[in-house]
Amino acid sequence: MRQDPLGYLSTELQALRDQGLYRRLRVLDGEQKACTSIDGRSVVNLSSNNYLGLTTHPRLRERALEAVRAFGVGSGSVRTIAGTMRIHMELERKLAEFKRTEAAVVFQSGFTANAGTVSSILGRDAVIVSDELNHASIIDGARLSRATIKVFPHRDVAAARRIVQEIPRGTRTLIITDGVFSMDGDLGAVPELCDLADECGGIMMVDDAHASGVLGSHGRGTVDHFGMHGRVDVQVGTLSKAIGALGGYVAGSRALIEFLHHRARPFLFSTSHPPSVAATCLAAIEVLEQEPELIERLWENTRFFKAGLQALGFDTGVSESPITPVIVGEGARAMALSDRLFEKGVFAQGIGFPTVPQGKARVRTIVTATHSRDELQFALDAFKAVGTDLGVI
Ligand SMILES: Cc1ncc(COP(=O)(O)O)c(C=O)c1O
Repeated sequence: MRQDPLGYLSTELQALRDQGLYRRLRVLDGEQKACTSIDGRSVVNLSSNNYLGLTTHPRLRERALEAVRAFGVGSGSVRTIAGTMRIHMELERKLAEFKRTEAAVVFQSGFTANAGTVSSILGRDAVIVSDELNHASIIDGARLSRATIKVFPHRDVAAARRIVQEIPRGTRTLIITDGVFSMDGDLGAVPELCDLADECGGIMMVDDAHASGVLGSHGRGTVDHFGMHGRVDVQVGTLSKAIGALGGYVAGSRALIEFLHHRARPFLFSTSHPPSVAATCLAAIEVLEQEPELIERLWENTRFFKAGLQALGFDTGVSESPITPVIVGEGARAMALSDRLFEKGVFAQGIGFPTVPQGKARVRTIVTATHSRDELQFALDAFKAVGTDLGVI
């Protein structure tokens, strides 16, 4: 009988089970909302990136439906062959205006925007100076570029400067950071790294996946929040989180964007968005411009919930954003906290190694603009009860 050549995968899965780290996928029964039904249970949802509640916003829903009726359900091709529709171009114009850059290009996801950009604008002869907690898509893009990768300790600009000083003059150098770090919710050292990029003539790139729609005027991101317009050469954003739909984009100079049209592999070799996605994203940017109260509500909820967790005695790390981790130490403990919260009607995902360092496992919470005070208080009460039971507080 043929032996299963993939048998080792089952062994690895068993090891995850033995360590209490095996995760079954949680399934939403209906819409992605602040309070929803998951696996048949009604829960306060603290695990989505739906910061502004746009996944179910009436204007976005309507525009998606209109686009389906007007343009069908698919684009039918990659962008560079027959898959560029007028609405794709319109969205890119709108994004460039929103980010205050010359041009923008949309990718299928934030992941492909990062990976496709870093891997195409740099080659073997370059050096990438990267924060150790940068997103996986930056790491993969850096590896694909074949450039030399130099990692500096999280937000340690002095260490980044020491690395830069050792790079031979004239070497093409990219300095790259997340705007908001997805597991800790703290902000990248954007202004200081911009200074460093200026000093060494390097390219400055910021991944604002968790900052777009959240920070800066009308949600323009950390580049706007820190007043760094014109000093960041490559801005990445996602359309999958606060924007509520799907996709990623790069905003920058026209030359950068035209180069990506010619060399970024996800742009060249993977089909573009259905027109309904582009229409939804266009409507979302209008909402950011016209309903700033959504962002204000997001921050009010953030302050309320973070203060509540801290008052209960939880370790919430160094968060400066709506992402608030509840750090508990070992992976199995984080999973137990998450499971017990779920039983009490609160969905907050447990996250362990290797996504976060050993001993720093956590339950990650993200509030949205659309959580009510009662829902957040309900969640805090559940945290108090389960945290006490498990000896976390
Ligand atoms: C910092 C960061 N960058 C990029 C991405 C990828 O974005 P997307 O989900 O649109 O692929 C994520 C999402 O997990 C992220 O957290």
